[in-house]
Order: sequence, then C-alpha cells, then structure tokens
Amino acid sequence: MKAKILVTRDLPGNGIELLRQAGVAVEVYPEDQPILRSVLLESVKGADAILSMLSDRIDAEVMDAAGGQLKIVSNYAVGYDNIDLIEAKKRGIRVTNTPGVLTDATAELAWALLLSAARNVVAADNFVRSGEWGGWGPKQFLGYQLTGRTLGVIGAGRIGTSFALKSSGFGMKVLYYARRENEVLRDRLGAKLCDLETVLKSSDFISLHLPLTDETRYLLNRKRLGLLKPTAVLVNTARGPIIEEEVLAEYLAEGRIGAAGLDVYEQEPKVNPNLLSLPNVVLLPHIGSGTFSTRSTMGQMAAKAILDCIAGLEPENAVV
Ligand code: NAP
Ligand code: GLV
Ligand code: GLV
Repeated sequence: MKAKILVTRDLPGNGIELLRQAGVAVEVYPEDQPILRSVLLESVKGADAILSMLSDRIDAEVMDAAGGQLKIVSNYAVGYDNIDLIEAKKRGIRVTNTPGVLTDATAELAWALLLSAARNVVAADNFVRSGEWGGWGPKQFLGYQLTGRTLGVIGAGRIGTSFALKSSGFGMKVLYYARRENEVLRDRLGAKLCDLETVLKSSDFISLHLPLTDETRYLLNRKRLGLLKPTAVLVNTARGPIIEEEVLAEYLAEGRIGAAGLDVYEQEPKVNPNLLSLPNVVLLPHIGSGTFSTRSTMGQMAAKAILDCIAGLEPENAVV
C-alpha cells in the first residue's frame, strides 16, 4: 500500500510536487486557510506523515486520530511550539523543522519592522493616501534615528545573529541577551553579552529572536516591559506569547514605550483590539519567512524529510 501524506495547506514552489513524484498518496487540504480542527482530525486518519503548518496544533489527539502508522510530523516552519514533542517522542514519531533557509528572510523582515516603526512609515503612508497632506512640515511624523544608537538583541541563535550583523551599516552599539557568549557577535561587532534587564533598560531598539518555550512565555511581562526607555522601539518576529500583548498595547498608548513592530501575536490570528487603533505600532500578518525563494525551499525541505523517513533513512533537521 502507498504511504499516505497529509499536507495541511497548499504550498508555493515544488515541495508538494516532489512528494507526488515519489509515488506516495498525497492529500492536500484544498482551502487557502488554516485547516479546521475537525477536518484535521478526520483527514489525518491513516496518514504515515503530516506536513504541518505552524498554525496547526499537533498534539496527542491528532497523533491518535492518525493511528499507529504515523511516522513523522514535518513542520513547515523553524518554530515547533505548535507540536507536542513529548507525545511525539512517546509514540516514536519523528518531528522535523526547516531551519536556516528562513534565517535571512526573517532577519530582513525584523529590520523592515524596526525601520517602519522608528520612522512612522505606515502611519505616514496612510496620511498621504488619505489626501490630508498639505505639504512639508517641520513637525510631521518625527521618528527615531538609528545610526550610532544602541541595539538590543534578545536571543542570539541563527536569526538573532543574522539580524544583529545587519546593524553594522547603521554603526550601532549592540547588546544581546543569550545563555552563552556568541563569538560571531563578539568578534564581528564587539557586541556585549548582558543580562535581560540590562538589555531592556539600555537599548534604543530591541528585537526578539527566541523560540516560544515554557521559559520564554511572557518573558516580556509588565515588570520587564516597564524597564524599556519611553523612546524605545520594540520588534517581535519570534512568537507572540513571549510578550504580554495587553500590557504592550497599554504602554504604547501611554507613551511608556516609543513604538513597536509586530509580526506575531499572542492568539493568532486575533490581534489585541487596543493595538489596532494605535499609530505607533506596525502590524504584519506573520510573514517573517515570506519570500518566494525561502517559502519554496522550506517546502522542498519539509517534503524531503518525509520521503527520507518513509524510506527508513534518518531525516535531516529532526528535533525529535
Ligand atoms: P535558533 O537558531 O534555535 O535560535 C534561538 C535562540 O534562542 C538560541 O540561540 C537559543 O539558545 C535561544 N534561547 C532559547 N531559549 C532561551 C532562553 N530561555 N533564554 C535565552 N536564550 C534562549 O532559532 P532561529 O532559527 O533563530 O529561530 C528563532 C525563532 O524565531 C523560532 O523558534 C520561531 O519561533 C521564530 N521565527 C519566526 C518567523 C516569522 O515568520 N515571524 C520566522 C522564523 C522563525 P541556546 O542555544 O542556549 O538554546
Ligand atoms: C515561522 O514563524 C517559523 O517558525 O518558521
Ligand atoms: C530634508 O529633505 C532635508 O533636506 O533636510
């Protein structure tokens, strides 16, 4: 019998084609929206592999619905906080992700958010489109200069390192919070490893690059958000629940934080309604890895992990 692969969303590029060419039975969820939980539980029955999206919660219930033949969950993302690794391990199900290929795309998007939030790019664009612009004005849309200022990087893995290195064109002083020294940042930027509180207190611009774990959930809570400078610009392309979103909205509204740029939210696709009305926040719909080339390569990687696993080979990028 042919192996059955459930792909929970259509993908750009040729990843799905690679699966089809391998002669496995591929079922692709046809709607261009996250698969409903009830549909996922039904469609997964009998699957040997799931090619999952970060918006799919893959837990014991899904694994049990699939059945004992399920061998691999191949996540179309580097983050895998949507997958219950303990339950996968218990059942001998492999879990893989797509690291590396999205590092620069995501770091670039963090810079897009940082520059947009620092210079009111979205609010100013809306102003021009509204037809209300009456001509150049010395007080219009004043923002924050980057050059020579202090950049705080929270989490110095692949994306955090790439993001920090891209600051050299702006001649910024770089502080970072990590569990150990990052030699690349030390040697190439003279960046300084600091405790979290120091990074939050001393930085003019702060960008988050941690995975979502039990340790990082609400890492930026009310108390720590209160340490930021009132002119600080905070960027999050990591995961929404790392920040207490309600408090961030409150502090942005009160001018206790200068501006923010967000690609991720606590309860996607919901966005805290208090954020939606603020002019000093830029809101993007979780598009960090969204370049043509990256999303295509992610599909190829996710497909290859499945084909290797089904062939009895060790898949690359296994997290379990
Ligand atoms: P990575 O290379 O694994 O980097 C994560 C870093 O966080 C590691 O250096 C890790 O340090 C550090 N870390 C983990 N827990 C920590 C803690 N409690 N305190 C301090 N440091 C901690 O992962 P990556 O490829 O850079 O991706 C990072 C995250 O970005 C992903 O997990 C995902 O959630 C997010 N992401 C978002 C988008 C988007 O579309 N917006 C795209 C891609 C990725 P250790 O080495 O000490 O474990
Ligand atoms: C995107 O958020 C990812 O984790 O790849
Ligand atoms: C602005 O356009 C300037 O020339 O300062």
